[in-house]
Amino acid sequence: VELATYLRATTAAAHAQLEAALSIISEEPDRRRFLTVLEGFHGFHVVWEKAIRQRPEFLAFYGPRTRLPQLRRDLGALGRTAAEIDALPLCQAAAALADDPDEAVGSIYVLEGSTLGGQLINRALAGADWVPEGGLSYFSPYGRRTGEMWRGFWAWAEERDPEPELAARGAQRTFATLQAWLCA
Ligand code: HEM
Repeated sequence: VELATYLRATTAAAHAQLEAALSIISEEPDRRRFLTVLEGFHGFHVVWEKAIRQRPEFLAFYGPRTRLPQLRRDLGALGRTAAEIDALPLCQAAAALADDPDEAVGSIYVLEGSTLGGQLINRALAGADWVPEGGLSYFSPYGRRTGEMWRGFWAWAEERDPEPELAARGAQRTFATLQAWLCA
């Protein structure tokens, strides 16, 4: 089975569960809720990206895709100061997601895939009076290039050719880590 099909199928339930637990899409998008969720993603990305970047071949791919600038921009737009952002709690459990290189491909799959649903989130946010100009950039970091970046991820992942079971386990562990961290 193709890796993309396999990862999608083996994480569909975890995706649905996280989406439901986050409960950020609603009739009246809640500023406080989004601030909390973005603070959580910040604590995840700081630890996770540092661990991912420790492998040169991952740094080369993921380095330019870092979403920390977007998180800082969005948190700033919602009123957090730089000092407050630096003091946010960190998700230490995220580091282990990079331990195994094949699992790490599955982990990157989850975060890159989140930019697809992110477009939908930003559409749901459009018009809320507290949302910064242009939307929350974390959810849709690539804008009109989302499809292109997603295809680029798959080209890279297929070239790395991870063991499918390991990649799937990495993706599932990533969803589980996010759910435990963001929805505690
Ligand atoms: C309210 C929250 C969310 C909604 C409404 C949502 C919605 C969606 C939608 C509609 C897609 C399919 C897009 C397409 O095929 O063009 C998608 C894909 C995906 N989302 Fe989410 N999502 C949400 C949150 C998340 C989160 C928090 C993550 C992980 C951090 C995530 C990870 C993924 C992944 C990995 C895919 C790719 C699935 C695949 O095709 O292989 N999503 N999401």
